[in-house]
Amino acid sequence: MCGIFAYLNYNVKRDRRFILEILFNGLRRLEYRGYDSAGISIDSSSSSDPNGQLSFSPLVFRQEGNIDSLVKSVYKDVASIKLNLEELFCVHAGIAHTRWATHGEPSPKNSHPQTSGAGNEFLVVHNGVITNYEVLKETLTRHGFNFESETDTEVIPKLAKYVFDKATEEGDQSVTFSLVVLEVMRHLEGAYALIFKSHHYPNELIACKRGSPLLLGVKELSEDMHSGAPFLDLKFISENRHPKELFLSSDASAIVEHTKKVLVIEDGEVVHLKDGGVSILKFENEKGICGNALSRPSSVQRALSFLEMEVEQINKGKYEHYMQKEIHEQPESLTTTMRGRLKRGGSTKAKTVLLGGLKDHIKSIRRSRRIVFIGCGTSYNAALAARPIIEELSGVPVTMEIASDLVDRQGPIYREDTAVFVSQSGETADTLLALEYALENGALCVGITNTVGSAIARNTHCGIHINAGCEIGVASTKAYTSQIVVMAMLALAIGDDAISSQARREAIIDGLFDLPNKVREVLKLDQEMKELAKLLIAEQSLLVFGRGYNFATALEGALKVKEVSLMHSEGMLAGEMKHGPLALVDENLPIIVIATRDACFSKQQSVIQQLHARKGRLIVVCSKGDAAAVCPGGSSSCRVIEVPQVEDCLQPVVNIIPLQLLAYHLTVLRGYNVDQPRNLAKSVTTQ
Ligand code: F6R
Repeated sequence: MCGIFAYLNYNVKRDRRFILEILFNGLRRLEYRGYDSAGISIDSSSSSDPNGQLSFSPLVFRQEGNIDSLVKSVYKDVASIKLNLEELFCVHAGIAHTRWATHGEPSPKNSHPQTSGAGNEFLVVHNGVITNYEVLKETLTRHGFNFESETDTEVIPKLAKYVFDKATEEGDQSVTFSLVVLEVMRHLEGAYALIFKSHHYPNELIACKRGSPLLLGVKELSEDMHSGAPFLDLKFISENRHPKELFLSSDASAIVEHTKKVLVIEDGEVVHLKDGGVSILKFENEKGICGNALSRPSSVQRALSFLEMEVEQINKGKYEHYMQKEIHEQPESLTTTMRGRLKRGGSTKAKTVLLGGLKDHIKSIRRSRRIVFIGCGTSYNAALAARPIIEELSGVPVTMEIASDLVDRQGPIYREDTAVFVSQSGETADTLLALEYALENGALCVGITNTVGSAIARNTHCGIHINAGCEIGVASTKAYTSQIVVMAMLALAIGDDAISSQARREAIIDGLFDLPNKVREVLKLDQEMKELAKLLIAEQSLLVFGRGYNFATALEGALKVKEVSLMHSEGMLAGEMKHGPLALVDENLPIIVIATRDACFSKQQSVIQQLHARKGRLIVVCSKGDAAAVCPGGSSSCRVIEVPQVEDCLQPVVNIIPLQLLAYHLTVLRGYNVDQPRNLAKSVTTQ
């Protein structure tokens, strides 16, 4: 849930200011992963000691608050200790961290890098959670270590120092950095991506991971590299000594502006950056990391891959906020989601859906006894929106599971089930645990994610990438609509091709083709939603009622409003209104009712009547031209938001957009940071 980043230049001169700026910039890109506090470590100097040995001592800067607070405090500290910003380094290894607090409040002492103690012999930045840290802390305390922070992470650098001291005491003067880290990993339980820096191993970095994401980026700087063919062989990189810059990061957004050549580090791997080379070690037996005997590490050779992401995707462009940009780019993100997957016309004039990632599993999914959708938050809501069309077209019963609840209950999952894991990040800890559980129970596991190479994408049997592009706003918007579209395509792909359903299927495919235009149209409500936000700015609470396809819209609209604007809001099933929530209704509480045309329309009309009879303060989202049909007492009795009508199963894609816009404007008008909602961060990699 935190962001980690590192930079190492080899054989290319960089001054200290450049290095600092690279680290700060990396952190800014990762800030959406956590913004409670931040820290970096760089080297103080590369001067020779009296024996002619180069001496480096790592400096550590840590600050509560966002990256800008860190930047200010670093430049202030650098000036006060008279550190030369122009000093050049041919090799320099810096590490950085942006935190979402799990253990210990946001404060400098709980920020990373965490250290082994005085002299900063070992420094660590960490994303994840060490579950056995209390036992390790007790043992290390018995061995004389003093702990300063409340973090789980602090045991890691202290353990590294313990391992290093023990090896050198026993006469092993040549213990390598990677062997120290391999031994440390053997004692760690939980999920982690770690980057180590050490005073004992100047100009080297070690990265390792288990569970949490980590990437290595390689930027070759020699002339022959540029003129030659694309250079993607890690074996070659591990042996060549050309000038280069190496980057380690929790995700691609901090790497793509420097290089597109990356290596997705796998669980159990230890990546050692030294002397311009990259070497990778791996435990023979991954389980060895968690407490069994340490297996002999073996070295691994892997090819680098190319990032498909573009730098523009991670910039705000003409928008003020990422959430705003991501709401407005939905016509394009939906087009990308569908590209190459929908076919219409050709010699047979057939309308079909092609989902390459599922092609060998479609029959098994169709034959499953049940489809279980599993996800959290917005991803769960997207699956809920798609549930009716999957049931309708496939005839397979669909059940819904919130990932944490499935794991808490150890709910039944069978071999005959297809378990579909929906996750934007592909890294959510609760969803990953549920995946582990479903795999153990023998279900066919399908992943629907927005992150190629993510843990969920890698560990499911098959899947569909939603291709919505990088989503940086903490509140998920474009990923939600792309997830619904992917699941509508899934419904078409697994549905039977009976003549009786052919017209329906074709109408959905036509609707999908036209959806980006309809979304473009509904985005024109931006100003209207801003006006509505002005009216609601001081409210304490908001209710959203939906049903059928749009129960999900009610839940998701309310989630958007509450998480960014910090206004209490609840999404409710309109069918449940009479069974309790009606008691809340009075002339003050604003209530949004989703009443677009579908099979539930007349029921929603009667919900509106009942709310109106109790003087409810109504805001109705309806299909274009339906204002009179949904406002019982005319336009004075309620405010109407008219949206284009589309095929019922695609209507949630259109209907959520005014609510996303409302949440956005409410937040900005209320003066909160829309891209960094209080206490939240993107990608919840801890339970
Ligand atoms: C809300 C939001 C969260 C996520 C949830 C699951 O806007 O973004 O509710 O949807 O944390 O995250 P993923 O989809 O990455 O598994």
